Amino acid sequence: MGNFVSIAPLRAVQTRGTRTGTDYLKVAFFCNHFTTITGSLIVSLKIAVGGKGGVGKTTITSLLARAIAASDTKVIAIDADPVANLAAGLGIDESKPITPVSELSDLIAERTGATPGTMGGFFTLNPKVDDIPDRFSIEKDGVKLLVMGTVKHGGSGCICPEATILKALMNHLVLARNEVVVMDMEAGVEHLGRATSGSVDALIVVVNPGKRSRVAADTIKKLGQDIGIKNIVVLANRVRSDEDIALIKESMPDYEILGFIPEMDEIVTSDRDGTRPFDDITTIPDELKAVTQKLLDLSD
Ligand SMILES: Nc1ncnc2c1ncn2[C@@H]1O[C@H](COP(=O)(O)OP(=O)(O)OP(=O)(O)O)[C@@H](O)[C@H]1O
Ligand SMILES: [Mg+2]
Repeated sequence: MGNFVSIAPLRAVQTRGTRTGTDYLKVAFFCNHFTTITGSLIVSLKIAVGGKGGVGKTTITSLLARAIAASDTKVIAIDADPVANLAAGLGIDESKPITPVSELSDLIAERTGATPGTMGGFFTLNPKVDDIPDRFSIEKDGVKLLVMGTVKHGGSGCICPEATILKALMNHLVLARNEVVVMDMEAGVEHLGRATSGSVDALIVVVNPGKRSRVAADTIKKLGQDIGIKNIVVLANRVRSDEDIALIKESMPDYEILGFIPEMDEIVTSDRDGTRPFDDITTIPDELKAVTQKLLDLSD
């Protein structure tokens, strides 16, 4: 990736609004990416974030999405966890509940030809979904948030209108969206199917330092491999010491480790206060900036 986009968020902010038309051309030339009319970079990059319960998937997803947006790059964050809480990390007002896609009954009925809650029967298996991300996402500071929701009966594998819409939407997001898509998955990665796995640029398995982190990573790696995801990397989170780093390196010599994100008081405090951590996203620690850059580099 060329200098024009190998920007930590800080540098991106400095250049915002000052680029000339020639600069835009240079951006496009050096990195094979495009800019929108407003100057946002369009980078096609699909990142799934997994890991066992409570390791920091949602925290990491929101910080990465915000850091990517701060580098003037178009990004959509997908909350694919049935217990959706990505909005909080993005600083999106939760006082008005966000309706997940799985509960947009009228839309689902219109697109599939069948009423949600019904099983079997005839309905289209390839409904139109390409307008959903823009119509039903909520934007804050350049990050769009789309909440997928969950299929209440029969599970995500069921042949029912809601599952069909979610599957078609996931396929669209991964295969067709020309932007960065960052997905906060539940512990498993079952929302991603075989059809999409080849287009996932990275499955990030978040782990916390500990004897069991390898077991957790192996479980998710297997799930990812089973559906054909090639690039499965580990991101260590809540690292407190050099011993923690050594422990992770020793227990996972065969994994690519994307980075070591420290335990941060800022995150603990904001969690307690119900605010988003690093309100000014340019103040995130260097480790997170480095991870953001490594991910953007994957799109080359
Ligand atoms: N680097 C960090 N430093 C301090 N606290 C952190 C850090 N990362 C995450 N946390 C805290 O750990 C807790 C779990 O984080 P988070 O909700 O992001 O995990 P999760 O993997 O998404 O959980 P779940 O599986 O329930 O969805 C939260 O209280 C969060 O504030
Ligand atoms: Mg979560």
